Amino acid sequence: MTDYEQFRPLMFSIAYRMTGSVSDAEDIVQEAFLRLTRALHEGTVIDTPKAFLATVTTRLAITHLTSARVRRESYVGPWLPEPLVESTEPDPAEHAELSDSLSMAFLVMLESLAPAERAVFLLREVFGYDYDEIAQITGKSEANCRQILARARRRIDERGRPRFSASRAESEEVARRFFAAVEGGDMDGLLQLLAPDVVAVGDGGGKAWALARPLHGQERVARMWTGLVRRGLKEHARTELVWINGQPGAIAYDAAGRVAAVIALDIADGVVQSIRSIVNPDKLAHLGPTSDLALRSPKDLACLTMATDFSEESAADAVIASFASTADPRLRELLGALVKHLHAFVRETEPTIAEWEYAIDFLTRTGQKCDEERQEFILLSDVLGISMLVETINNRTSGGATESTVLGPFHMVASPCRELGDSIDQVGTGPPCVVRGRVLNADGMPVPGAELDVWQASDQGFYDVQQPGVQPRANGRGLFTADADGAFWFRTVVPSHYPIPVDGPVGTLLNATERHPYRPAHIHFIVSAPGYRKLTTHIFVAGSQYIESDAVFAVKKSLITEFTATDDPEQMAQYGLDQPFFLSDFEFILQV
Ligand code: BEZ
Ligand code: FE
Repeated sequence: MTDYEQFRPLMFSIAYRMTGSVSDAEDIVQEAFLRLTRALHEGTVIDTPKAFLATVTTRLAITHLTSARVRRESYVGPWLPEPLVESTEPDPAEHAELSDSLSMAFLVMLESLAPAERAVFLLREVFGYDYDEIAQITGKSEANCRQILARARRRIDERGRPRFSASRAESEEVARRFFAAVEGGDMDGLLQLLAPDVVAVGDGGGKAWALARPLHGQERVARMWTGLVRRGLKEHARTELVWINGQPGAIAYDAAGRVAAVIALDIADGVVQSIRSIVNPDKLAHLGPTSDLALRSPKDLACLTMATDFSEESAADAVIASFASTADPRLRELLGALVKHLHAFVRETEPTIAEWEYAIDFLTRTGQKCDEERQEFILLSDVLGISMLVETINNRTSGGATESTVLGPFHMVASPCRELGDSIDQVGTGPPCVVRGRVLNADGMPVPGAELDVWQASDQGFYDVQQPGVQPRANGRGLFTADADGAFWFRTVVPSHYPIPVDGPVGTLLNATERHPYRPAHIHFIVSAPGYRKLTTHIFVAGSQYIESDAVFAVKKSLITEFTATDDPEQMAQYGLDQPFFLSDFEFILQV
């Protein structure tokens, strides 16, 4: 009489590695025993029960996996195997040979293989079966099995096989120090125990709070883990070091001694390479009563989410947490803040579906209005005051330096070089004017040779690029170099106020809000000199219409300049004018 029970460990080994589930593996093993009993009962002659049981187990696992795979694709968040916790000291032989292939990392890697590939790969690489035996077990030809194995190996090698510490004692020591550091809040100690590219993965299965996506990098992982453990300690949770799937780790129990999580570590080169935590209660049930600790919202830990648990309150945190692995910290900050404020806006205003669709359509039309000569998005940013805010933040002035203001969309063609005293106006219909001044540094010393790029609208309120057939090219533009005293002067016409373009969505917005589209009269300047910060600004014509209500919020009091009517013949002669003119004086102060 054969003791069939002796084959149970082998059968479980195969079924568990195939399915990644303790309970499914146990069911499969049970079913295989039943089939053996039935076959014997029917009088079937079975020469080698071991081969029979291995075959039935493998085939049942393939069938199971084929349907389980469908479920796994809809699994919420990362999938990890059901942890296999060693209750007693492991058999060293079993350990040395099989523990690596039992590891979470190995089982997750197997997930990239189709069920039949997985079976062939395991039978050959882990259990050492020959090709003829594998052919019999799987019911495929030997040649086919060889092909399948080659394909499976290729796929596995492409992803890289997991590495483990050779010494169990060393692994255990690193794990002990890891849990001591997190529980003691020893950030420096913890950082030293983590590989630079350490990864933390959580499996909550949509039922418990876990990382929605793998979290990468020493700092982030350390911060997340100390936060998590701090919360656990507040709840009087405790961890107990155990071996999980042949690797060191811990079970976390709540105050009532119920299982809250299983944490498995991959250790290589003396440091933790990955941390996998399983909090999905379905995957912990085989270890005893489960805790509700991980089911409660961890409000203080924004990095944890439950992807299925969408709520108005938690939505922003879930999205922000999804950026947790972003390598560029500035990108992570920008996206996080954007989502925080956008969500707050939506929660505050509660748009209807129709309103949200209108908003999307408005932005679509804004994009469609853009081309080489027109930038409707900048215009939108201008009329919402965002351009000015960004400009002002980036050019905070100190020590009396000249304030900056928006660049605007009309600095699109290069200004022609002109001599001091030249006129930038080539039409001659507007009120003549002279603009003069000096470029100084913060100590009031001249900045000789400073460059002044100037552009303005005509007296009719149009830039040259807006009226191609009407105004000569480069009308209203000039590039001047200040003299040795930092002084500059040029002739022009007094510009007029003008409307920003209103034939696009921005016009629609202004119309709907009964806002006028006008900008007060101004002349644009970019003043630059080696060793100084480039200054982008305007001078505004004092008394101009709309000076109090610029459509793009670009007026700063310090930039408003008198354009004084002058009929003094001596001054007219000085600037080569034969009629009265307006004179404007402005000092630009550059900062380093
Ligand atoms: C401008 O001054 O040229 C301008 C600035 C913002 C929007 C439209 C025009
Ligand atoms: Fe302008």
